[in-house]
Amino acid sequence: MKISIIGAGNVGSLAAMRIAADGSGDVLLIDIVKGLALGKALDLEDARPLLKSNYSIKGSDDITQIKDSNIIVVTAGLARKPGMTREELITKNAQILKDVCLKIKELAPDAVVIIVTNPLDIMTLFALKITGFKPGKLFGMGISLDTARFINLISQELHLPATDIEALVIGAHGEGMLPLPRFAKVKGVSLDEFISDDKIESLINRTINRGAQIVANLGTGSAFFAPSAAIASIVKTIVKDEKRTIGLCSYLNGQYGIKDTCIGVPCRVGKNGIEQVMELDLSQDELTQLTKSAMAVAQTAAQLFA
Ligand code: NAI
Ligand code: 2OP
Repeated sequence: MKISIIGAGNVGSLAAMRIAADGSGDVLLIDIVKGLALGKALDLEDARPLLKSNYSIKGSDDITQIKDSNIIVVTAGLARKPGMTREELITKNAQILKDVCLKIKELAPDAVVIIVTNPLDIMTLFALKITGFKPGKLFGMGISLDTARFINLISQELHLPATDIEALVIGAHGEGMLPLPRFAKVKGVSLDEFISDDKIESLINRTINRGAQIVANLGTGSAFFAPSAAIASIVKTIVKDEKRTIGLCSYLNGQYGIKDTCIGVPCRVGKNGIEQVMELDLSQDELTQLTKSAMAVAQTAAQLFA
């Protein structure tokens, strides 16, 4: 299994570390900055005995090395600065993504591609249109990170282990995300049995603002520990053909009544990428919000082609 990561910055290099530690396959790091990916790969290679991994780890500034990759993770692009929204990255990151996606199409047409670059939902739709890949083979990582954040905050609020909590976030990986407390459970018991509506509302807002909170504290760059963990978990699910349900930014063509755009929804994932988009029984209000976000993604992505 050849797993390439394009963009050897904070998220890409940490994802490489986690993928190597999981033993998911051979890892190739690519970055446009000369020496950066190679330097990081050499460092990571030295960790192999400590990680008990015999898979190869390589790095290069030559993107043609991605040829015949089985899985490609795209983390190339600018990260936001304090006060910026993810959407403000659009023009620069669209150009980077276009260059990268044309290379993927040419060199690794059979790869499963995971887009991470922000603004995530717009970049995922843009990448799908550029590559013409089947929707199940190209999707975005965003709401699995938001779901992890929601679970973490619930766990802190309840003083209970994060591993006992199930929760769900759907929608855009941005201000329009929809943490769904109706689907949150602690060992099968509904969240509203444990805390008041006001507390739940506060948890929702803190989940939506978590990325911005991290950016504001870092001063430069954005989150990378939890994002890289989310990426490695998706890669492992594909490699091991686990058929797990994970929240992903997926192309919708009629599911939830939404057509020809990408948005975050729960998806069954296996060796072929997204094998099924799961359809939740949403309330009218939730459906309206999801549809509104999905349409905004389609409109902004369309402007990139104008
Ligand atoms: P970073 O700045 O640390 O790394 C980005 C890397 O991409 C840099 O090393 C840069 O040289 C490289 N790059 C730029 N153009 C390239 C090209 N054409 N080919 C190859 N490499 C190229 O940024 P970080 O923190 O790693 O974030 C990367 C992206 O991921 C950002 O757009 C960020 O907003 C996004 N992100 C998305 C998340 C999500 O949940 N979807 C979570 C965290 C970050
Ligand atoms: C985050 O949510 C930057 O999208 C990234 O932290």
